[in-house]
Amino acid sequence: MSEILQPNLNTYSKLKPNTHKKLQSSHSRTSLIDVTDKLPIQPPCRILFKNEMEHASGSFKLRGIGNLVKTSIEKAQSKGIPLNQIHVFASSGGNAGLAAAYSAKFYNVSCTVAIPIIAKPIIQTKLKEFGARVILFGNSINEADQHLKNIINSASQDIFPIYCHPFDNPEIWHGHSTLVDEVSQQVENKDKIKGFVCSFGGGGLYNGIYQGMVQNDISGDILLLETAQAPTLTETIKANNIIQLKNVNSLATSLACSYTTKQSLQYYQDRDNGIQSHLELIDDMDALRACIAYNKCCKKTVEPACGTALSVCYDKIDLLFKNFSHLKKDDILVIVVCGGSCTTDEELKQFEQILKKSETKL
Ligand SMILES: Cc1ncc(COP(=O)(O)O)c(C=O)c1O
Repeated sequence: MSEILQPNLNTYSKLKPNTHKKLQSSHSRTSLIDVTDKLPIQPPCRILFKNEMEHASGSFKLRGIGNLVKTSIEKAQSKGIPLNQIHVFASSGGNAGLAAAYSAKFYNVSCTVAIPIIAKPIIQTKLKEFGARVILFGNSINEADQHLKNIINSASQDIFPIYCHPFDNPEIWHGHSTLVDEVSQQVENKDKIKGFVCSFGGGGLYNGIYQGMVQNDISGDILLLETAQAPTLTETIKANNIIQLKNVNSLATSLACSYTTKQSLQYYQDRDNGIQSHLELIDDMDALRACIAYNKCCKKTVEPACGTALSVCYDKIDLLFKNFSHLKKDDILVIVVCGGSCTTDEELKQFEQILKKSETKL
């Protein structure tokens, strides 16, 4: 578990505690659509897309980060701390940072996001639109994160800081698990849900889906997809230990995490809950191809991190047959269309050029 900076609650001991109030969630319910007949090849079972790009921050991250911010504010308020003393801090130059900034705006608290100077301009613009203070620092997320922690540690004692790690926090996993709660309510017969397909970065999404399946008494399979250029879980499983990868450099930038959570390794190895996890590696180029195919079919722009999961519906459909050929025609497999705001329509066109170049090289 990553270091979580804790506020010094002694500072607030003179404040009058509020009666504990539950806040509304900052994420909304996303749609679930049946795409079985729209895929290039008839799949072994029904395929449903869970459209997580519909969240106000552009990705599923709002479920988990939003929950972390929400529960931290509830904790602060139960100690009588007013909203103007609560401050959200994040250091993700991607969708987790956007989710932190959006949640802070939603709950009317201030937010600072420290991002490396190489972070995409579109993210800086969106962070500012959500009202966050943006600090550009360092050449990597780690450097930006260290700078952020220094800022938190030297902040006024009156401030109640909420530090948002992008994926390593049980409150984040609990928030992500609401995706499965929703799917269970959206299908006609929950017993037909036989599995989920999602991309794997640091493991927050996976942990949430696993927990959601347990919570909703769903047994079945989870198919995890990584790119060969960011093989974090693959290498972790090989080492049977939490390891740090050097130089993770994938075009699926949001999946390029140098380590995963202990919980993810444990869930992957666990066979006790009737849930079996599988892992497949695809190439960056497959992720780009899926972004383009998805854009043609569904008219939406998503990141390669999302294309990674979607690839099983397009050029990598063989992976569906490999992992799910035991399913029946009316069984349901849910593909998590995790979204992401880091890719523009312009970049999607560049992906087409990259693919053309890579194909002429072959
Ligand atoms: C769009 C998108 N998909 C997938 C992931 C992977 O999520 P996790 O790091 O929780 O595994 C991320 C992480 O930032 C993301 O932004």
